[in-house]
Amino acid sequence: MTTTPMTTAAANGGPAARQQAPLLSVRNVVQEFETRRAGGIKGGIVHAVSNVSFDVLPGETVGVVGETGSGKSTLARSVIQAPPPKSGQVIFEGVDLCTLKGSKLKQARRQMQMVYQDPFGSLNPRWRIEDLVAEPMLGYRIGGGRESRDKRISELLDLVGLDPSIYRRRRPIELSGGQCQRVAIARAIALNPALIICDEAVSSLDVLIQAQVLNLFEKLRRELNLSYLFIAHDLSLVKQVSDRVAVMHLGQLAEIGPVESLYARPLHPYTAALLNSVPGFDPQTGQARKPVPLKGEPPSPLDPPSGCRFRTRCPRAQETCALVEPRLRERSPGHEVACHFPLDEPAPGSGEAPAAAAAVLSGEPASVPGADADRAAKPDGQPPTLTRTAP
Ligand SMILES: Nc1ncnc2c1ncn2[C@@H]1O[C@H](COP(=O)(O)OP(=O)(O)OP(=O)(O)O)[C@@H](O)[C@H]1O
Ligand code: SF4
Ligand SMILES: [Mg+2]
Repeated sequence: MTTTPMTTAAANGGPAARQQAPLLSVRNVVQEFETRRAGGIKGGIVHAVSNVSFDVLPGETVGVVGETGSGKSTLARSVIQAPPPKSGQVIFEGVDLCTLKGSKLKQARRQMQMVYQDPFGSLNPRWRIEDLVAEPMLGYRIGGGRESRDKRISELLDLVGLDPSIYRRRRPIELSGGQCQRVAIARAIALNPALIICDEAVSSLDVLIQAQVLNLFEKLRRELNLSYLFIAHDLSLVKQVSDRVAVMHLGQLAEIGPVESLYARPLHPYTAALLNSVPGFDPQTGQARKPVPLKGEPPSPLDPPSGCRFRTRCPRAQETCALVEPRLRERSPGHEVACHFPLDEPAPGSGEAPAAAAAVLSGEPASVPGADADRAAKPDGQPPTLTRTAP
């Protein structure tokens, strides 16, 4: 079974895409959690999402990738205000959701629905499928009286490929994982949303069922003009479904760009390393090759490195990387990277870009000048001050 790419011609970072008003604008979103040790003693602040900004256009699918703990789910939850971010804006259809409360927020959130990884866990096992699909409509008092709601339930089940005459009266335990995920999708679209946020929505399904569910997402995108924020570990899945891809590293956006250019010409050493960790895919040659795992543990989000958060694992890191936090900058239309020495530039010191790319491909971490001394980064390109902090 093959899947149809969930892509739109206009939404690939080209001029047409740029003229469209975004459906969703995430601006400088920060989400942090205070941790407590035993006895309620303060344990520190988890910097789960730090100053993240991006747009989703109408009808566009934006993929989000990154290692475990990079902040993908926290970002998704911040978008739906569950909980609201500590700072920043989430502008949906022109309204900043962070300024809304109570019924106004509930009404605005109706337009954005989540589909989660665990199809069984997201459905009440005691309820019948028809009641599960009716629940969001009842919660928002839409769908009319009983008769029209019943008709809508059948339409929704039809739309997600479940024969209502067979499945309406069943319970989740009588369905397969893929069928349960279809019910979860029917619930999500029951409220006529404009945006669906899929958080690892197909990760627990086997490959054939994954393909079916992805094709269903694509069909719904076409028929209902939906936009998607598609979060997944699986880089090849994200490549299949996305118009643009955002790469998250330790709570920040490392890179964002049109899917073809990001996969063929990654600009951030972290993106290149992620792509190289996928078996059988070499972004440089397109040839099959052995995966090169990304070496080293990600730093703790409780105490992220100064400057660039990837510097402790980056083969291209220089002293500047410990001193100044890189900001996203555009390198080609719609393709932005947060790196002082992106891969489309000669490697620092060598004058040769291919050598730098080879270092990244080898997965060998280079020695990082200044990595042993924690140095304070100065924002906005101010001359840095070196300050050695206590370990
Ligand atoms: N409620 C919370 N309290 C404290 N820390 C949290 C909370 N929620 C998330 N975190 C932390 O925030 C960071 C980002 O977590 P998040 O779940 O967003 O990562 P993720 O990219 O979705 O990971 P995965 O790919 O494993 O799903 C992690 O370090 C996580 O432990
Ligand atoms: S070169 Fe520097 S800024 Fe770029 S990813 Fe490596 S450490 Fe970060
Ligand atoms: Mg997650």
